[in-house]
Amino acid sequence: MSSGVSMARETVRFDIDWVRQQFPALQQEVNGQPAVFFDAPGGTQVPQRVIDAIASYLTTSNSNTGGAFAASARTDRLIADAHAAMADFLNCDPDEVIFGPNMTTLTLALSRAIGRELKSGDELLVTVLDHDANVSPWVSLEERGVKVRTADIKPSDCTLDMFDLQAKVRRNTKVVAVGWAANAVGTINPAGEVVRLAHAVGAMAFLDAVHYAPHGPVDVRALDCDFLVCSTYKFFGPHLGVLYGKREQLQRLRPYKLRASSEQLPDRWETGTQNHECLAGVVAAIVYLADLGRRHHPSAASRREAILAAYEVIRRHEQELAAQLIGGLLEIHGLTFYGIKDLAKLDQRTPTVAIRMEGHSPRELATKLGGRGIFTWDGNYYAINLTERLGVEQSGGMLRIGLTHYNTAEEVSRLLEELKRIGARG
Ligand SMILES: Cc1ncc(COP(=O)(O)O)c(C=O)c1O
Repeated sequence: MSSGVSMARETVRFDIDWVRQQFPALQQEVNGQPAVFFDAPGGTQVPQRVIDAIASYLTTSNSNTGGAFAASARTDRLIADAHAAMADFLNCDPDEVIFGPNMTTLTLALSRAIGRELKSGDELLVTVLDHDANVSPWVSLEERGVKVRTADIKPSDCTLDMFDLQAKVRRNTKVVAVGWAANAVGTINPAGEVVRLAHAVGAMAFLDAVHYAPHGPVDVRALDCDFLVCSTYKFFGPHLGVLYGKREQLQRLRPYKLRASSEQLPDRWETGTQNHECLAGVVAAIVYLADLGRRHHPSAASRREAILAAYEVIRRHEQELAAQLIGGLLEIHGLTFYGIKDLAKLDQRTPTVAIRMEGHSPRELATKLGGRGIFTWDGNYYAINLTERLGVEQSGGMLRIGLTHYNTAEEVSRLLEELKRIGARG
């Protein structure tokens, strides 16, 4: 994965101390031990500046839009700033950015609008790796007579079976909706290839980038996708969702909307009053990423370039942690590892791993680790197609250890020690 920013890799040291100072939540303790946040795929912590921006909006600018007074004018400016910030993040125009409560709600709204133009016999495609928020919205269109097909995986390493996917993208396929990265096992799918396959049969390409966005740079222009969704609470911002749509698609499709709301972009897709305070938080989260990039690459000329520089260093740091984590886990007796474990293929995965351990349910493991201040997740995390395919849905799913760039090698060592201790006790 290349971000397009060239840096002398070996000379830029990742400033983990500065990073951790930005996130006040990381100072917490549990039972006298520093808390370890390995729950990033469920949502990340936020920098102090995000908290400050939300508080500041509510203190100085809290109002509705379009009014003839100062607080309302500030709110209008903030909304424009938030669109511009996300446009830099995604590499698109500000009015191609649609904000909403979360990815699920935006995807349901988009799928309803797309459903209006589908007819019986049309097909849509999702995958076994997907979060259910990229499955159920499309499956519920089957009531209109369309068929949703599911591309399979190779269970040995939880990567997409691209032959199966290719075979299922057919003449009557109208939407190919694929997760860019799998929130359960971390596989990064070949998003560009998926878009090309979709377009080759005239289908729309929809990418769920919720799990990918905290770990790698997004460039919707380079991908040429029709739609892409992500959630800012997964990349150091507040709880909001974002939908990118290609201008011609956003203008062509007919969203369910109020008569009173304008037909302009982005208004025709942004139903009701937006969460203004969280939009302030989104701007601050993007500024944080740009600052992180500039610390490591001071010559970054634009905010977009600074964001790309941030992802360069994030990727490198996360791959080091992933190598340590996966290498350590594979040495633990009685442990089953799901997903890519080949350390030569770390660029094909995020630092999110899923395991099971003989004699312990995932819930028991998560509870034991939680008591020692290590926050992991257990169950299916809504990746139900996958837990069913792997045969673990009925027995508690998997334990998910999800790292992000504010985690450290010491934290990974602590987790490995605790798991060894739990394994040794049986
Ligand atoms: C890959 C993926 N897609 C979609 C979602 C749903 O996102 P949201 O909570 O914003 O609706 C999640 C949430 O965990 C996810 O990880």
